[in-house]
Amino acid sequence: MQTNSWVPLFPEQASTFAWQVDLLYAYLIIVSIAFTIPIVVAIFYFGLKYREREKYATPDEMHGSIALETVWSIIPFVISMTIFLGGAYVYYNQFRIPDDPAMEVYVVGKQWMWKLQHSTGQREINELHVPVGRKVKITLTTEDVLHDFSIPAFRTKTDVVPGRFTYLWFEATKPGKYHLFCAEYCGLNHSGMGGFVYVMEQRDFDNWLSGNVSGQTPVEQGRDLFENKLGCASCHAGGPQQRGAKLEGIFGHEVKLVGGATVVANEEYIRNSILNPSSQVVEGYQPIMPTFKGQVTEEQLVSLVMYIKSLSGNAGATTSAGDAGAKTTASNSAANSTVAPRADRGNSNTQGSNPNAPGSRNEPSNVNR
Ligand code: CUA
Repeated sequence: MQTNSWVPLFPEQASTFAWQVDLLYAYLIIVSIAFTIPIVVAIFYFGLKYREREKYATPDEMHGSIALETVWSIIPFVISMTIFLGGAYVYYNQFRIPDDPAMEVYVVGKQWMWKLQHSTGQREINELHVPVGRKVKITLTTEDVLHDFSIPAFRTKTDVVPGRFTYLWFEATKPGKYHLFCAEYCGLNHSGMGGFVYVMEQRDFDNWLSGNVSGQTPVEQGRDLFENKLGCASCHAGGPQQRGAKLEGIFGHEVKLVGGATVVANEEYIRNSILNPSSQVVEGYQPIMPTFKGQVTEEQLVSLVMYIKSLSGNAGATTSAGDAGAKTTASNSAANSTVAPRADRGNSNTQGSNPNAPGSRNEPSNVNR
């Protein structure tokens, strides 16, 4: 499948911050060279100049030099501060997730594949299709060990950590096909855990999106789990007699816990409340909720979190220019809402791909590349 078997030293720059990373890197190299060469030269020069000429010679006393010491303090200070400021700027740009991403994708790592789902419902394995010139937010977790989601051409990557969510974002700048890697050793087939990111013109992306309808969106899956499969609604439906805390409107707000502490209801809090309900009991409620640890997959957890988020009007962003695709998806998934969710636990590589969909021409077999 791979177009190149060699790894370029500098991959293409294909995201808005790629040039910043390269510039910082070049600066670090130049600084390193600018110090290394004079130091090596000085070692040899002083080695020759001050070699032992006579036994037991007494060296001249030296009383220091304010000017010299000031210079060799100020220059390194300025250099290290420019490295710090440049690094902080680049880091801030890369890891402050934009508030208004045009599109969101959820990623679950697994030995040894990437399972991706768009907020409009389309699923992909080891492939990610995105439009050019749009901010894409990626939310990641893993169902087994530590992985690392890395797209060298975009100069970005993040660890994917068991038991928590991590995030990254990018805005691709040119259409093309770019490597996607796992950049953290994660077992036998770590080196095969990768694929490609396809950056497409918006029009092509819309076509791709509408050709890859794949049932429920994460929010719809979450609602299905909440209301039917897991029965969360029997306690959390929000009525007056409910034993479980009300969930509408909580996302992003502070929640008072038994014992007086408060927490902000974010993704992590919701996730923890599902897996370790007794660790953070909401004030006024009994610690009677059973744990759902082992009963929900990571993908289902993502869906539940997105559903609960949507109860506060925070539905996952959809690509605004992809309305046509999104609508098709919505109407199709409405029709499919009674269909059981796909078996996410198995090794099925066919989940979410529709062999008859026009977009499937881009869907090579997903097995171990
Ligand atoms: Cu997953 Cu290395």
